[in-house]
Amino acid sequence: MLQKKVEETVSFIRSKTSLQPEIGLVLGSGLGALGEQLEEACSIPYEEIPHFARSTAPGHKGRLIIGRMKGKTLLCMQGRFHYYEGYTMQQVTYPVRVMKALGIGTLILTNSCGGLNPDFDPGDLMVITDHINYMGANPLIGPNEDAFGTRFPDMTRTYSRDLTALAKATAKDMGITLHEGIYLGYSGPSFETPAEIRMFKQLGASVVGMSTVPEAIVASHCRMNLLAISCVTNLAAGILDVPLTGEEVIEVANQAGKKFTGLLAEIVGRM
Ligand code: HPA
Repeated sequence: MLQKKVEETVSFIRSKTSLQPEIGLVLGSGLGALGEQLEEACSIPYEEIPHFARSTAPGHKGRLIIGRMKGKTLLCMQGRFHYYEGYTMQQVTYPVRVMKALGIGTLILTNSCGGLNPDFDPGDLMVITDHINYMGANPLIGPNEDAFGTRFPDMTRTYSRDLTALAKATAKDMGITLHEGIYLGYSGPSFETPAEIRMFKQLGASVVGMSTVPEAIVASHCRMNLLAISCVTNLAAGILDVPLTGEEVIEVANQAGKKFTGLLAEIVGRM
């Protein structure tokens, strides 16, 4: 059932471009600019793509861009789907299935998040080495899609150690600070309470955000090489005694956007 839908989406995308993407890139809040840098690009609004959801989140353009960068062919999602938008976990992760079926073996996920680690400042970048799924749901619940992966997928190698090392080495060469740490996925859309943030700190989270975990689980299920990088847009609730806003998240993500997209482009070039 899922496989048939995915095949329809893949045929549609193939009818729009003859480029064969090798790397998938999901651009999070305020980070969409990289999509505009692709050459020979073919851009498809999500509403035209069979079985795709629509982007409703602020700062998410809602289109797929397939094009070339640094000698590689990329499929970029300018905007993703979130659980808090009311989509099912299957809808949120559907594009990852499509990427896999298109022959993409490497996935890069990006996001904006709140920092819990006292060493992190707004605008800092962090490569995700592991996650805590605190979303209360899992995209693999339901009949297993054997064509994609096994019923009980391993999660100890979800974030590629080789790609993480590549990202760290690239950042070092570019003089960019790239922290590493654990991302805790929270459903949102309300921000966390200060008490929740204190609990998440005790659980070992470095940052908290409302995305990425579902896509990472599905990427693990279909054995894609995964790299995930977060932009810390704010200190998490209660760390400073100030209210959080979605506008602040987009603003800081935009400010850090140039550094972030420069790093991503260089990482892609070295892959
Ligand atoms: N919490 C959850 N998600 C976020 C945050 C936050 O503080 N900042 C950006 N995305």
